[in-house]
Amino acid sequence: MIVDYRWDSTLETGHEMIDTQHKQLFVAINDLLHTYQQGKGSEDLSKSLDFLTNYTIKHFFDEQRLQQKYHYPDFENHKKYHEALKAEVRDFSRQLIMKGPSEELINKVCSTIGDWLVNHIRIQDKKLAAYIKEQDAVAP
Ligand SMILES: [Fe+2]
Repeated sequence: MIVDYRWDSTLETGHEMIDTQHKQLFVAINDLLHTYQQGKGSEDLSKSLDFLTNYTIKHFFDEQRLQQKYHYPDFENHKKYHEALKAEVRDFSRQLIMKGPSEELINKVCSTIGDWLVNHIRIQDKKLAAYIKEQDAVAP
């Protein structure tokens, strides 16, 4: 059974760039699920997984750059969370190449990234967005 991941307003951080990219990440997760459900072959699945992987990396990069710009005090810690997910995502790509696609693997990829994102957004990214808002209020 494949689970659907959706962005909803409870995941809104209030920072435009962060929220836009988060929405895109959920779209990419669902795209991978649907590509698999439609019975598409390895090539389409790899393409979809590559997009999800690259977009995840791009998002983390942009978010970290934003943190540096604002001298975010929790930067190192936040970066560690990003690195941990990046390592898992890389491992999934390797497994897809080695073993080929399976419902188990696609499910694992989507639930790992989806669950991670939901938790990370609710705690870490909301904290970050609140910090940025506070800084902008002090020195806009
Ligand atoms: Fe983050």
